[in-house]
Amino acid sequence: MPHRSYAERARRTSCFIWTAAIFCATLATAVILAGLVVLIIYFIYQPKSPYLKMGDAKLLRLDYDQSGTLSTQLQITIFAVNDNIKTNAAFYNLRLHLLFQNVEIAELQAAPFVVPKNNSIPLGYDVQSTPIPLDSGSMSAVDSALKNREIPFFLTGKARTRWRLGSLYSVGLWAHLSCQMKFFWPNGSTVSMECNSGG
Ligand SMILES: *[C@@H]1O[C@H](CO)[C@@H](O)[C@H](O)[C@H]1NC(C)=O
Ligand SMILES: *[C@@H]1O[C@H](CO)[C@@H](O)[C@H](O)[C@H]1NC(C)=O
Repeated sequence: MPHRSYAERARRTSCFIWTAAIFCATLATAVILAGLVVLIIYFIYQPKSPYLKMGDAKLLRLDYDQSGTLSTQLQITIFAVNDNIKTNAAFYNLRLHLLFQNVEIAELQAAPFVVPKNNSIPLGYDVQSTPIPLDSGSMSAVDSALKNREIPFFLTGKARTRWRLGSLYSVGLWAHLSCQMKFFWPNGSTVSMECNSGG
């Protein structure tokens, strides 16, 4: 009797092992196939990460009184760029922060949008800050900036992007943008603009 029971157990065990082995082999094959499909898609379409690029910027207004309150108005254009020749790109969760002397003076946002293939879309912002009270360190920085006639601002932030291929979406990618801008004052034109953009 014990012999048969052992044989039974052995058979069940081997049956279980075989089922598991077949399942694993099927799973491995599926994973390899999925990987191949992704590779082929990358090879054929060679998708590139969509990105944000700085366009023009202009300082329209700079009111600064000796009590240390500053209010400004800037005009900023940013481009959402999709260099992909075959795929559209979706941008969402776009959030950029405009800083003056490390104080955030405005947040720029955009509702989700799509950039067609091989194209770019300009996003125009008319940024009006509320009056910003400055501490003494920032006040002396403004004084020297006004003396040099170069007013610095810093723009930094990011957006999520995905390229789309029919009904196939890529995973979400980040598009970063950070720009150090200097404006000539009183006319407000850009003196220098150093930007980093990328994923
Ligand atoms: C992509 O756009 C550029 C300029 O807008 C154009 O010169 C080029 O021919 C376009 N490429 C394709 C493949 O459509
Ligand atoms: C602003 O002033 C600078 C320096 O004088 C000059 O180069 C620039 O062309 C001026 N910009 C405008 C829009 O007048």
